[in-house]
Amino acid sequence: MPEEREPKIHIENVTYSYGSEPVLRDISLDYNRTIQAAAGANALAALRQAAEENWGNYLLAVEGSIPTKDGGVYDCSGGITARQELEEFAEGAAALIAVGACAFWGGWPAANPNPTGAVGVSALVKDKPVVAIPGCPPIGDVITATVAHYLTFGRLPELDLQRRPLFAYGARIHDQCPRRAHYNAGQYVEKFDDEAARRGWCLYKMGCKGPETYSPCPLIAWNGTTKWPIAAGHPCFGCTEPFFWDTMTPIYNRLPAVSGFGVEKTADTIGAAIAAGVTAGVAIHAVATGIQRARQSKATEVYEESATESEG
Ligand code: SF4
Ligand code: F3S
Repeated sequence: MPEEREPKIHIENVTYSYGSEPVLRDISLDYNRTIQAAAGANALAALRQAAEENWGNYLLAVEGSIPTKDGGVYDCSGGITARQELEEFAEGAAALIAVGACAFWGGWPAANPNPTGAVGVSALVKDKPVVAIPGCPPIGDVITATVAHYLTFGRLPELDLQRRPLFAYGARIHDQCPRRAHYNAGQYVEKFDDEAARRGWCLYKMGCKGPETYSPCPLIAWNGTTKWPIAAGHPCFGCTEPFFWDTMTPIYNRLPAVSGFGVEKTADTIGAAIAAGVTAGVAIHAVATGIQRARQSKATEVYEESATESEG
């Protein structure tokens, strides 16, 4: 019988702090590129040792995309490519956590024309459970909660179709947004310095992708729950969604209409509809949800293509 061990955590390029407590009191970091003194071959040796000691039991947290073109030469350390490193250490992992938009689907390096053939973790690792914590940046509390869930229950949390934990990514930004009442009332910011912007009205007309984006930003936020883009007066650009650099841009434009849904008309007509005494909320909701589904299936298609290319 192999010796039973507590799952151990390998965190790469992710740092934690709990108030003023030292990080290393709560978490054992055998390897971390950002804060370790070693580099190159020595760093790789530390990683190999940590993996060997916990083979089959560790969670492998991966940050950054993995270049696959030209033999993967665009990201090397310790004499091996990032792809080789991922494949070597994924083999001994109980599960993988793809931290951030780049590890999730390739991020901005994978944006068209993707010159390095960058992909995310699940395009390369097919035989292990992978959980994605997307975002640019991802929310630290969601990473911590995912690890805590695994340590507490011995399994990953429930995931959506994109492998994101449902406890965090189960609802649209639009449905949790403090500006939502203004959307429903047809009150929109038209310019960043107009009176509506000062009053905190809805940013839909400034290109907000909150209706198409699933993320807990409005509830958790950053910097001790103090700030997130929409609270700072900036539209959401969908950084937790696959391929957002290609599918959610230009950042300050509304999304093009998806056939059959007519989203472009929605915000323009809602104010008039409300002025005319029509309750448009339910129809608008259905439209935005339909668009989200259409975009998600497009993103899945592109993702599968890139995965096939990287295998070839
Ligand atoms: Fe909030 Fe954006 Fe939705 Fe407006 S469109 S309610 S700013 S998420
Ligand atoms: Fe990203 Fe939108 Fe949140 S841009 S940080 S998902 S508000």
